[in-house]
Amino acid sequence: MIEKPWEGRFAEKTDRSVELFTSSIDVDKRLYAYDIDGSIAHCQMLAHASIITHEEAEKLIEGLGAIKREIQRGNFLFDHGLEDIHMHIETRLFQEVGKVAQKLHTARSRNDQVALDSRMYLREETRNIVRLLDILNTVIVSLAEENLEVIMPGYTHLQRAQPVLLAHHLLAYFEMFSRDRARLCDALKRINVLPLGSAALAGTTYPIDRQYTAGLLQFPEVSANSIDSVSDRDFMLEFLSCASIAMVHFSRLSEELILWSSAEFGFIGLPDAFSTGSSIMPQKKNPDVPELVRGKAGRVFGDLFALLTLMKSLPLAYNRDMQEDKPALFDAVDTIKACIEIYTAMLPRLKINKEILYRATTTGFLNATDLADYLVTKGMTFRESHSCVGKAVGYASSRKKELHELTIEEMKSFSTLIAEDIFGILTPEEMINRRTSFGGTARENVKAAIQSARQRLSEAECP
Ligand code: ARG
Repeated sequence: MIEKPWEGRFAEKTDRSVELFTSSIDVDKRLYAYDIDGSIAHCQMLAHASIITHEEAEKLIEGLGAIKREIQRGNFLFDHGLEDIHMHIETRLFQEVGKVAQKLHTARSRNDQVALDSRMYLREETRNIVRLLDILNTVIVSLAEENLEVIMPGYTHLQRAQPVLLAHHLLAYFEMFSRDRARLCDALKRINVLPLGSAALAGTTYPIDRQYTAGLLQFPEVSANSIDSVSDRDFMLEFLSCASIAMVHFSRLSEELILWSSAEFGFIGLPDAFSTGSSIMPQKKNPDVPELVRGKAGRVFGDLFALLTLMKSLPLAYNRDMQEDKPALFDAVDTIKACIEIYTAMLPRLKINKEILYRATTTGFLNATDLADYLVTKGMTFRESHSCVGKAVGYASSRKKELHELTIEEMKSFSTLIAEDIFGILTPEEMINRRTSFGGTARENVKAAIQSARQRLSEAECP
């Protein structure tokens, strides 16, 4: 049986059931590379501060490197008796380099160590997610550009409201994902803080140089309070909040793809390669990818809530409860990355049914606002024109006609301000192109928005 580093004060061996219950190795082994890199920097700092000799540091670093390679090769032995990745590596180091291994943990605790590993992991993954979002956004902008001509109904209350360009609708998601990116970059500032050197909770009596370690591990900042450093998980909570908000956006996009690909809408077709069939109904082609992305939003919210609940009311500083942070964090990271990647692959392959989209803008009185605006330009107040057009809509609908299908005489019966030029205004193209207010759907605006989106993507700094 392997001896545990903390076994000294115990008269009995740990019960196997307790070992299994308390072990986190199955989950935290994926932190091994950060743990080793953190330990290497710690050794260098210990030597730099003359707490250990340079020869000792060299031995430790060599041993740590060998362990890293061993884990990478897949022939490292994991054992629940050794609790977590930190104890596994320390114990293996002893077997590898002998007694000097016992110096590695000088001026350090697993409490600051696990905080360090988690922060190193999360800063890397946050950067990865930002990059993935940028690629997704590039795909969205290209899709918008390729479909600049496509007109579709815009909705409120899931009722047809006014015509918009499909490109404009797509760029709405570009904006959402850009904000998600910005939020993650902002969170990264608070993730990217070095907790190492806080030791168990109170700091250490050794003359350590935390700034030096921070330099080695590329942390721009060193945490200011040792109690906070080992007990805070709000950097994870912040990430999970950002991820949850992004998943809200993914779930909305998913919902639209699901609706739009239904027979009822028929706006788009999903690629066969991204759809699945039914085991009983041979005709079915199901939108499982967007459905699962929509479902996975719930999963990421669950991860956020798991951690909020976990942290709530915990007394300072470290509590073992906090070991439960990692399953939630890892799950959210894996889930959001998978969602971004699958949409990046799928979106360029959507089949856009232009005619159906266009046709949907020509029925349902989508030009009512434009008729009202027209009357305003002729001198009516908007409230008056609203009520006047309301009557015209009632009249047309009782005759199963659209507004643009009324004769000029019928039109004039609602207001004598209406003249022949109204018919030029009530087409979907005109309705779109006249909406030139900044941020509106006019084709010229959307063209410029595509340009600016490309510009923003090319200038976006990778944190
Ligand atoms: N496995 C632990 C965790 O993930 C590491 C820290 C353990 N610290 C302790 N004092 N038992 O939180």
